[in-house]
Amino acid sequence: MTAPMPQFPAGFRWGVSTSAYQIEGAVDADGRGPSIWDTFAHSPGRVVDGSTGDVACDHYHRHRADVALLSGLGVDAYRFSVAWPRVQPSGSGPVNAAGLDFYDRLVDDLLAHGIDPVATLYHWDLPQPLEDSGGWLARDTAHRFAAYADLVAARLGDRVRLWITLNEPFIHMSLGYGMGVHAPGRMLLFDAFPVAHHQLLGHGLAVAALRTRTTSPVAVANNYSPVRVLGDTDADRAAGVAYEALHNRLFTDPLLGRGYPDGTVTDPSLVHDGDLAAIAAPIDVLGVNYYNPTGVRAPADDSPLPFDLVPLDGYPRTAFDWPVAPDGLHELLGWLHRSYGDALPPIEITESGCAYDDAPGPDGRVHDPDRIAYLDGHLRAVRAALDDGVDVRGYFVWSLLDNWEWAEGFTKRFGLVHVDYASQARTPKSSYAWLRDVIAAARRGPAR
Ligand code: BGC
Repeated sequence: MTAPMPQFPAGFRWGVSTSAYQIEGAVDADGRGPSIWDTFAHSPGRVVDGSTGDVACDHYHRHRADVALLSGLGVDAYRFSVAWPRVQPSGSGPVNAAGLDFYDRLVDDLLAHGIDPVATLYHWDLPQPLEDSGGWLARDTAHRFAAYADLVAARLGDRVRLWITLNEPFIHMSLGYGMGVHAPGRMLLFDAFPVAHHQLLGHGLAVAALRTRTTSPVAVANNYSPVRVLGDTDADRAAGVAYEALHNRLFTDPLLGRGYPDGTVTDPSLVHDGDLAAIAAPIDVLGVNYYNPTGVRAPADDSPLPFDLVPLDGYPRTAFDWPVAPDGLHELLGWLHRSYGDALPPIEITESGCAYDDAPGPDGRVHDPDRIAYLDGHLRAVRAALDDGVDVRGYFVWSLLDNWEWAEGFTKRFGLVHVDYASQARTPKSSYAWLRDVIAAARRGPAR
């Protein structure tokens, strides 16, 4: 049992999030092309359990049942991603009509259930032919992305109620191109900066394209992690500044018209005249994905990086070994508010969630009290930020379903709904019932 949830403002948007490659499966169906994640997952040793997203949650074939689960939960909105290789298999040129039809059906089904479709255009599944031409290291990929955004919006237009260009460009750059632990598996460290600039440019050009096709609001979903400096030397503090610039500012300062943070541009020749203005095209909402804070201190002498990352003690931990730190979400929202002031658009929490080793009990039910405690704590952190004056308009739980967790394969379960990957049976967990009740109570308003 948790204490009653405090009230949220009228119109606060309750939602859940997923992404295409993590749930859809059907990678060869109806003309879909290969993505960098197909290639990566099929390369031996890349994914801990050797699994792939070939089938995942088979959402492509089960989307109607999954929308029924959303409807049962009572959410206002569902954030999904469009798989670029499904709608434009080679990343440029011809459209795959069958791929677009899938999202068209999904959007109509959501609307028929009174659920706002929130579409992310890019959640890391670049068409493989674009990677073969340089991927996000190539400036042309930014233009290809804008053209793809245009063709999706031409079809789904205003039926999508919130458009999100990119998901977590920082994580895609750092894990995919910097450290090689995500697709496309490159290990460029700081030479990955072109991936930052080209994603940001692609975002800006996509915003311009979307404005010609829709009056719905447009956003980006960034991953943020408040930085905790451990140690009190000048070198420790400098490490904190460097990490904050990379993780929290690199994909925010330029969007909000401030240009790149000091020390992040490794090759100024990449930034052409007009690029910063294109990147700073106004957005309506800032999507905030939050999982945990990061401990930082001065690097060891032989480190190739300007900081060391240090585990934070004193918190319970998820199955991912991430600290459960709702205070970090409160801190982060305050940091955004203070750092960007009037330039900060309204915020929606576009991802918040946790992995635990959930399994059905003898009664067939899945009890996940740790997830309930996690969500309870993070919602109270949002409430505290609202009390401080931060304009937060919504909260999306990651994730609706247990799903294919990138390099962790099927070993990490983030869902409100348990998925048996052998049978594809869906079993709502106790957190699903808890969230359903929280949303229903929020809609009823204050008790009289
Ligand atoms: C990503 C999700 C991922 C989640 C948990 C976020 O970084 O957007 O795709 O499943 O974190 O790791």
